[in-house]
Amino acid sequence: MKVLSFGSLNIDYIYKVNHFVHKGETQSSDTLNIYGGGKGLNQSVALSRAGAEVYHAGIIGVDGMFLKDTLKDAGVNTDFVEKSQNIRTGHAIIQNDIQGDNCIILYGGANQAITKEMADKVLKEFDEGDWLILQNEINEIPYIVEKASEKGMKISLNPSPMNEKIFEIDLNSINCFILNEGEAQALASVHSDKETLLKRLREQFPHAEIVLTFGEKGSVYAGQDGIIWQDAYQTNAIDTTAAGDTFTGYFIAGRLHGMPVKEALDMASKASALAVSRKGAALSIPTREEVLEFEVK
Ligand code: RIB
Repeated sequence: MKVLSFGSLNIDYIYKVNHFVHKGETQSSDTLNIYGGGKGLNQSVALSRAGAEVYHAGIIGVDGMFLKDTLKDAGVNTDFVEKSQNIRTGHAIIQNDIQGDNCIILYGGANQAITKEMADKVLKEFDEGDWLILQNEINEIPYIVEKASEKGMKISLNPSPMNEKIFEIDLNSINCFILNEGEAQALASVHSDKETLLKRLREQFPHAEIVLTFGEKGSVYAGQDGIIWQDAYQTNAIDTTAAGDTFTGYFIAGRLHGMPVKEALDMASKASALAVSRKGAALSIPTREEVLEFEVK
């Protein structure tokens, strides 16, 4: 079984700040780090480091060639990463505060240049039972979902960043949703406690598996294996960028390898705790060996 991660590739400009900039404020930052990122790329790296056979599809500009190397170094197949001569690579401007939290401005660039022709060309190489992994940082997702679903591929969607484009997708074709509380509230159109939120999503998408993440408050799975809660592992937070992507990649890889849900959630939680304790996006994603050696404090 192959995994196709059709998603964004970004250059992340990460600025260390005292606090997130307020309206009208100018704040200096002494630290700028430039790393490979993008929710698509990060999830591909996490899937591959967790042991899955991953193919990444997406578009970069001439300024983003190092992102292809980042994927290759992590063992991801890059045959479907195209280069645009005239559109710049997507990028993210990330403020990283002293608590390790972040806020992000996203510029789509080449990530928004996916065509239906490209989608057809890529999907031709995948079959029934293969997995398609999506986030919400590229265009043409409704078409990609429609065509992958016609082929009988299994589809995982991380509706991040959440916006109105998510509702253009045939969400009944999604087999697995992995999302945080804010995304879940927007998807279910309800502001409520965790249990009610989960119940609403289950009613809305009865055929899908749902994994809700709550950052340092843990996560919960609902699906054919019942409802399973998982605590988060405490860690010294340096940079939360890509923590959710790491969780997604490790959880899906675990499930593809036939791991019971509880074990896959546990691996994903350990992997994201490790990612939070390190700087950067893709750079912070641990290997499977590191996750297995993770010591619980
Ligand atoms: O999820 C983290 C990612 O979001 C960053 O790497 C940044 O590129 C944005 O897409």
